[in-house]
Amino acid sequence: MIFRTLKLASALTLGLLLLASCKEAPFERPGMDSVQNGYRGTGMVEIYNPRIVAKQDALNTAPPSSPPLPDGGPTAKASYKNVQVLGDLSAGNFIRLMTAMTTWVAPKDGCAYCHNLENLADDSKYTKVVARKMIEMTRHINSNWQQHVSNTGVTCYTCHRGNPVPQQVWFTPLQQNKGADFIGDNAGQNVPGKHVNLSSLPTDPLTPYLLEDKPIRVNGPTALPSGNRNSIKQAEWTYGLMTHMSTSLGVNCTFCHNTRSFQSWESSPPQRITAFHGIRMARDVNNAYMVPLTDTFPIDRKGPGGDVAKVSCATCHQGAYKPLYGFPMIKDHPELVGKPAQVAENK
Ligand code: HEC
Ligand code: HEC
Ligand code: HEC
Ligand code: HEC
Repeated sequence: MIFRTLKLASALTLGLLLLASCKEAPFERPGMDSVQNGYRGTGMVEIYNPRIVAKQDALNTAPPSSPPLPDGGPTAKASYKNVQVLGDLSAGNFIRLMTAMTTWVAPKDGCAYCHNLENLADDSKYTKVVARKMIEMTRHINSNWQQHVSNTGVTCYTCHRGNPVPQQVWFTPLQQNKGADFIGDNAGQNVPGKHVNLSSLPTDPLTPYLLEDKPIRVNGPTALPSGNRNSIKQAEWTYGLMTHMSTSLGVNCTFCHNTRSFQSWESSPPQRITAFHGIRMARDVNNAYMVPLTDTFPIDRKGPGGDVAKVSCATCHQGAYKPLYGFPMIKDHPELVGKPAQVAENK
């Protein structure tokens, strides 16, 4: 009996030794890169899979562009009939932007995607009406949300990448099992959701935070619950948003947090502040530009509840910590920055 126990014990030890000698985690193919982004010993490390990074590189290459033409000559307002936003551009730079917009948004269909080719001044295609608003929106982002987009800025390409409908947009889902039927109310969770990386977290953390402004913070200021009435259920919504943010940027939580305290701003990397403004920017863009376009879009472009397609972190970032790895596309398109006053006037 004693002999048998000893045999078992040594077999176990051998097994453990074998496991310990196997340094690479058995769950991922070897060759993950890790980059430390915080103090030693704080576990603030980003893990990158080089195979995913290689695929991402191709997705995040900006298309070629050339510097704007020297100003001068007649303006677009003087040259054309129905120019409501871009009137101050020279006619040459106006057509240069039309050509760029075509490659960014509708390379297959060309000018006809937005225009009635018989009469370019005609506004009968909804795509042209939307595009005009999009020009204003792009200018608004670049001139009034520098706290987020800095001088890198955005162009139509940042979101569209050659597609009329950006690949990463979202709709508010119809509420499932609202009220009590025999399945019960699933409280918007426990079904695999794309935005929360197929976890069991609430599947739509975008409506409350990127459209409405529900409070995101859930941690209490003290150890005891007296000062904090937030429930675990509320925290799950916050975690849902955080999962969306992490997957949209292709980063871990430690890109923005020192996980010793998710709450503390002092110990968070500066990226968290940029993200803070990003949340407000997405909310602003959705409410000031997307929602007012709801009636302009045809029904087949809308969500199950008739809502308009909206912007999330993924719409611009598409898996990269900075869209297009920070390539400053607006450098060659100062006409998409706009003067802040001009933007306010156009709103
Ligand atoms: C993604 C949509 C879109 C595409 C594609 C597009 N345009 Fe435009 N175009 C617009 C919008 C929006 C306006 C109005 C701008 C304004 O009001 O400031 C406009 C206005 C014009 C005008 C002024 C017409 C007038 O008399 O008022 C011309 C000319 C023009 N576009 C030419 C072109 C050409 C040429 C192409 C293809 C190379 C093109 N556009 C592709 C959206 C588009
Ligand atoms: C912040 C992201 C973002 C930027 C920047 C952006 N768009 Fe969009 N665009 C969207 C979203 C979201 C939609 C709605 C998707 C849909 O059409 O269903 C959209 C829709 C459109 C549509 C309608 C397409 C269709 O077939 O329904 C046109 C045209 C368009 N954008 C043109 C532009 C132009 C031109 C620019 C640059 C001046 C631009 N967009 C910049 C996010 C963006
Ligand atoms: C891109 C940056 C970023 C990433 C990545 C990120 N967070 Fe956050 N997190 C923030 C910001 C910004 C806030 C504050 C939001 C606000 O107050 O509007 C926040 C707030 C929180 C809070 C609430 C803190 C409080 O004061 O109650 C928790 C909890 C949290 N994050 C957890 C996580 C987890 C878990 C992950 C990984 C799944 C994560 N975060 C990934 C930026 C990030
Ligand atoms: C309209 C497009 C757009 C949207 C939407 C957007 N971002 Fe960004 N974001 C950018 C651009 C452009 C930059 C690069 C700014 C720079 O170069 O400093 C950036 C930079 C960042 C950075 C800084 C990265 C670094 O290494 O310094 C963080 C963090 C970030 N975004 C988080 C978010 C989060 C979280 C959301 C959603 C709540 C979001 N972004 C939505 C365009 C966008």
